[in-house]
Amino acid sequence: MRGLAGKIAAVTGGGSGIGQAGAVRLAEEGCTVAVIDRNGPAAAETVARIAALGGKAAAFTADVGIEAEIAAAFEAIVAAFGRLDILVANAGIFSAEHDSPVHKLNKSVWDEIVGVNLTGMYLSCKHGVGAIRATAKSGAVVMTGSPTGVVGCTPGSNAYGSSKGGVHGLARVMAVDYAAEGIRVNVVVPGFTLSPIVHELVRDPAVLEPLVRSIPLRRGAQPVEMSGAIAFLASDDASYMTGSIMFVDGGLTAV
Ligand SMILES: NC(=O)c1ccc[n+]([C@@H]2O[C@H](COP(=O)([O-])OP(=O)(O)OC[C@H]3O[C@@H](n4cnc5c(N)ncnc54)[C@H](O)[C@@H]3O)[C@@H](O)[C@H]2O)c1
Repeated sequence: MRGLAGKIAAVTGGGSGIGQAGAVRLAEEGCTVAVIDRNGPAAAETVARIAALGGKAAAFTADVGIEAEIAAAFEAIVAAFGRLDILVANAGIFSAEHDSPVHKLNKSVWDEIVGVNLTGMYLSCKHGVGAIRATAKSGAVVMTGSPTGVVGCTPGSNAYGSSKGGVHGLARVMAVDYAAEGIRVNVVVPGFTLSPIVHELVRDPAVLEPLVRSIPLRRGAQPVEMSGAIAFLASDDASYMTGSIMFVDGGLTAV
């Protein structure tokens, strides 16, 4: 893809699943990748995978929901690589067990899920976009949204769906705010993707089978199937795209 070679990219939640696949793909396209995750060994594992492929990466341990940690991570990235061009704001959590219909949704559960998925996205963008503006000046932000932020496809997951609807809104307003500076902001919406985050859905056939039947392509995605969309939106091939929400969902939201 055009315009990725030589760029510095940061990926939150880069230690697993979609973020890991996106980090590897950006490295394959010639980016140097800062892998940010609250799970330090997982981030290091992604860095090792990239190194094994001949790419360049470094791990940064931070919780996106804790401002001091994520701010320090972006400071360390700029200190290590001199600039930041691309932010993939992707870290997120899901809990079928604790999230619930709103009349019985514990505020502590709401606070935890919204705190990572929406407040953590805001904090990653606050300090990540700050780093892009202060160094590369222009660049691209790719955020990970969800079908649950658009349609009610995961009944009971009120905190999760609300957090992801918020991500889509944040991305659109950011796209307008930073367009004149040449910082594009877009969202990838993964469909049901077979990463550790969906382990509760995969282990229960009563949940898994109707879910897969509801997907026109009749299967879950592999994380690597999200990586092309992430790299594309970060690249100059998407130079006229900002404020877009790109569905990579096997048709889930088309029906
Ligand atoms: N898998 C799916 O079906 C699916 C569908 C739609 C959207 N998404 C979204 O995709 C994104 C990536 O999810 P995934 O499927 O790769 O899940 P995953 O669990 O495989 O990976 C998530 C990564 O984020 C990290 N993380 C979690 N909370 C963090 C925090 N507070 N600070 C820093 N890192 C943190 C985890 O340690 C993990 O490495 C999430 O935002 C998720 O909501 C996933």
